[in-house]
Amino acid sequence: MEKKTFYITTPIYYASGALHIGHAYSTVAADAIARYKRQRGYDVRFLTGSDEHGQKVEREAEKKGLTPKQYVDEIVAAFQNVWKVLDVSNDDFIRTTDERHIKTVQKIFKRLYDQGDIYKSSYTGHYCTPCESFWLERQLKDGCCPDCGRPVELVEEESYFFRLSKYAPRLIQHIRDNPEFIQPVARTNEMLNNFLLPGLEDLCVSRTSFKWGIPVEFDPRHVVYVWIDALSNYITALGYGSPDETLYNRYWPADVHIVGKEIVRFHTIIWPIMLMALDLPLPKQIFGHGWLVINGDKLSKSKGNVVDPIPLCSRYGVDAIRYFLLREVPFGSDGAFSNEALISRINTDLANDLGNLLSRTVSMIDKYFDGVIPAPSLPGQEDETILSLAKELPSRVDAQMDSWHIPDAIGEIFKLIGACNKYIDLTAPWILAKTEEGRERLKTVLYNLAESLRICAILLVPFLTSTPQKMFLQLGVPASRQTLESVAFGGTEAGARVQKGEPLFPRIDLQAELAALASESGATAASEPEEKEELAPFKDEIDFEDFQKLDLRVGEITACEEVKKAKKLLKLTVRIGDEERTIVSGIKKWYSPDDLVGRQVVVVVNLKPVTLCGVESRGMILCGSDPKDEKLAFVTPSSPLSSGWVVR
Ligand code: MSP
Repeated sequence: MEKKTFYITTPIYYASGALHIGHAYSTVAADAIARYKRQRGYDVRFLTGSDEHGQKVEREAEKKGLTPKQYVDEIVAAFQNVWKVLDVSNDDFIRTTDERHIKTVQKIFKRLYDQGDIYKSSYTGHYCTPCESFWLERQLKDGCCPDCGRPVELVEEESYFFRLSKYAPRLIQHIRDNPEFIQPVARTNEMLNNFLLPGLEDLCVSRTSFKWGIPVEFDPRHVVYVWIDALSNYITALGYGSPDETLYNRYWPADVHIVGKEIVRFHTIIWPIMLMALDLPLPKQIFGHGWLVINGDKLSKSKGNVVDPIPLCSRYGVDAIRYFLLREVPFGSDGAFSNEALISRINTDLANDLGNLLSRTVSMIDKYFDGVIPAPSLPGQEDETILSLAKELPSRVDAQMDSWHIPDAIGEIFKLIGACNKYIDLTAPWILAKTEEGRERLKTVLYNLAESLRICAILLVPFLTSTPQKMFLQLGVPASRQTLESVAFGGTEAGARVQKGEPLFPRIDLQAELAALASESGATAASEPEEKEELAPFKDEIDFEDFQKLDLRVGEITACEEVKKAKKLLKLTVRIGDEERTIVSGIKKWYSPDDLVGRQVVVVVNLKPVTLCGVESRGMILCGSDPKDEKLAFVTPSSPLSSGWVVR
């Protein structure tokens, strides 16, 4: 029987600078899904690549005295190295400077023009001369360039436009008919309410103000601008429009495009409309993930908070970094990166829970049974928990992975690991070893531990790339028992020989490591600032009954916009259980509307409504801030909770 196909893509990364740990998150998450599907027998195609055109690249190259092509060649070689180091298993790497891409983009542009979906007009924008950038009215900050803060001038440029509005009704219908199309589901409402239902503007798709782009074949003063070029990669990489469309026919439509939340809009509006105009099937799903943030900020070169994944991998190991990325960013929400968080994860989950369990199990088999895994002999009550967890584990992992809840899928595996550690404490093998009957029981205990670890190793294969092999080796698991087909409980063969090895993840001394990082110039990871601050004095005590008067709930932001004429305010739509309400919050200085949709917050729901700048606000969002109000972040659950749940 022919295998089912599975086509998964990451975004193509801008080749205007180096990749950071946030980009690594995006790709490692897609890699875990690709590996998961391969393990489940799918014929997987996993694509990543580089987005190489545009004015920014042109300028960066010039600064370095290189041609744009020389510049991107260097950058792309570095990208590919990052993916190699992180064990990313992509099947192809598309560059937007590839001939295969350029030719097809030109064809697509021409076809859309010939059929009247692209037309020539003029583009009016605000131009920042020092930055050589165009901005829309709404992108300006206090009437000035949002990048450098300098004044802008209103200019007009001849451009081609893509008639998005023509296809909007069809797209709205498609989104409504296919609830799986945009995930997580909160992003569906955002796209419909904020962009599609208010009406789409036609999209500017060419530029004459710079040269580094794909020339419009029939009007070479123009280069194709951004999205038509970038989004087409998902099909040009499959040979669409080329003489050999075998891959295209086999893998399109994509099963899932993995993208960061800020580009969900382009993938769920422009891309499907392009495909509709080309008469091609739409991708089955666009999954918008959250960001990895540092001290509440997105990583960016201009904020100076980027973290290079390569030194982190050499310091802590690739699997430690992959584990952190996959475990720390909850489904669809943001996850925080810091040295402390990374080292704690390594110590707690990997060194203590997983590493210790393996080394204790192997050592005990070594000590009590000369390194040979015993056949189970005497069952006991303590076995029940781990046996049921181990038996159910594959389907529990599948249930989480069906909706790309990667951290929860890994969490399921670690529940069994935790239960096994408890099982050792409960059964106390060192006492069992002392008596004849105890030794019979000990055989079962050690068999169950070795078998649970084997099952965990199999299920960890999509997420960690070298650890499962190390576990199989230490547990003496033959190749035939390392596969998903052999995952059912009982696959370990009694009589197999264990082999003691190095600890999987050596424990890190947190304080010493933080001190070492701080003293090294260009420390590899970000840290909290240590400056001593004058804190506000604590308020007077209150009775518990007074506290109970507050009704605090988990809410989910479903839409967000600026409050016109208000410098500090954002108007948020927050879902609390079945209800959606408007809350006005003074957080504009710290968050832009695009940052907020999909995030979970804590809401005081029983505050009397107030009207701020003409908008009625029903409730308040809890935030923490420094005494000077320079830094602020809202309070969010450490793992996703259902909206409407009580916070106490
Ligand atoms: N070139 C466009 C995508 C075109 S796709 C047809 C682009 N490139 S990017 O390099 O800026 O971003 C690529 C991906 O990296 C995006 O999905 C973005 O969300 C993701 N990330 C960038 N910083 C990130 C974090 N700090 N955390 C998680 N993902 C991050 O957009």
